[in-house]
Amino acid sequence: MQITVFNHPLLKTKMTMLRDVNTSPAKFRRIIGEVAMLLTYEVAKDIPVEEIPVTTPLTETTGYQIKGTVNVVPILRAGLGFLDGVLQVLPEANVGHIGMSRNEETLEPEEYYYKMPRDLNAYTIVVDPMLATGGSAIDAINQLKKHGLKNLCFMCLVAAPEGVKRLNEVHPDVQIFCAALDDHLNEHGYIVPGLGDAGDRIFGTL
Ligand code: PRP
Ligand code: URA
Repeated sequence: MQITVFNHPLLKTKMTMLRDVNTSPAKFRRIIGEVAMLLTYEVAKDIPVEEIPVTTPLTETTGYQIKGTVNVVPILRAGLGFLDGVLQVLPEANVGHIGMSRNEETLEPEEYYYKMPRDLNAYTIVVDPMLATGGSAIDAINQLKKHGLKNLCFMCLVAAPEGVKRLNEVHPDVQIFCAALDDHLNEHGYIVPGLGDAGDRIFGTL
């Protein structure tokens, strides 16, 4: 399995709060925002930079800026829970939206919305809290590639081994980053131990 799991103490403690069934939607939203910032800080290590001249109060020196554009693409709706946190760290990023909803009977994803920034060479971070069967991530990335985007990575909170394996098989070029790699999927396609339905917990639609 090709996946990077960030085992940082702050992520572990915040993930515990997110897993807790007694955490309210308000607290869940706040913590997921904090986790998104920490994850983005790590994921951003792969973003290319270029040298630029900068004048300090004392002298001329060499500084850096991000080379090219960065896109952040939340998979609706739960991916929106990540958006503010990602943009705190990458305020200049452009935002694309892709609407996918998992049919709870077939577990197959269904696309209902697609709107992307224009730059096809942008470094694109696809974000969704959950990588379960992998269907939603795979279909979203299929669509992005079909529209010409190339430099893609996928960032989530919790991944299931089943989804990682499928995503690796279908999109071996897409790096996966997460805060936790969990044990397995249950018979309803939920990640165990997981944190339940991320969208419902973010938006209070339980
Ligand atoms: C959840 C989650 C992922 C998907 C993961 O979304 O946010 O998009 O399920 O499952 P998969 O890997 O098996 O495809 P859901 O379809 O529940 O929609 P929501 O974001 O509107 O709650
Ligand atoms: N989608 C979720 O929100 N949670 C899971 O555990 C699986 C899919």
